[in-house]
Amino acid sequence: MRDHDIETQPPRLQIFENVVPGQLLEEMNATLDACRQSWRPADGRRATDTAARFAELLRRHAPFQVAERQACARSRQGAREAGWDIGRGPPLYVLRCVNGSLRGQSHLRHYDSHILTLLIPLQQAAPTRENGDLIIYRHRRDTVAAWKNVITKVRLILLRSLPFAIRRALTFRHLALGLCDRIACVPGNLYVFNGFVTLHANLHVESGERRSLIFHYYDPGLTAGLSHVPRAWRTLRDRLLDAIQPVRSGD
Ligand SMILES: [Fe+2]
Repeated sequence: MRDHDIETQPPRLQIFENVVPGQLLEEMNATLDACRQSWRPADGRRATDTAARFAELLRRHAPFQVAERQACARSRQGAREAGWDIGRGPPLYVLRCVNGSLRGQSHLRHYDSHILTLLIPLQQAAPTRENGDLIIYRHRRDTVAAWKNVITKVRLILLRSLPFAIRRALTFRHLALGLCDRIACVPGNLYVFNGFVTLHANLHVESGERRSLIFHYYDPGLTAGLSHVPRAWRTLRDRLLDAIQPVRSGD
């Protein structure tokens, strides 16, 4: 395990190396290969039961289990210090499969609704200029009042509706200015960050397919309900998709 070398205290991004066995990666990718041709929904994001099942399989491996426990403990401590009431809800498990046809899913700068994000890359896209790498901004917001968070969310939603070419140009300009960093997410590693205070996005995927498993923990409830409607809609959509197009794990 090492902290990413961009910052030291506290780490903006923490990387736990080699915590996912290669064989398990192969099994998870084989499960996704089986439904690759018909993967829905169109945005490539799905909170399917399979994601929760993958989480169970990962937790059978001690290195991953230890890393997750450490990340959660650190995050809960941070929430206590910030005075956030994060409740005891279960994590949100999401699978993302993004290829070149999903331009609308890249260069979307945003903050997460949850304070802890665990990113588990399952498969990298082809190594081209744009391969879906994680873009993570250096400046983190520190005080997050609910009203301020809502205004920020609305502003980012408006920016996300900009044309792809402008969103992409902004990303590369910000990289050139040193406002953000490009992180190559390697399968086998675990990437941990606070997506609630850290602005982030992904590069476009020019060729191949980027697959990621994402765990979101601890919602401090500072969106004034703004995230509830889209989240409820996605949950309903994913349950319907699970019913009509199940993603079967190979066990
Ligand atoms: Fe995010």
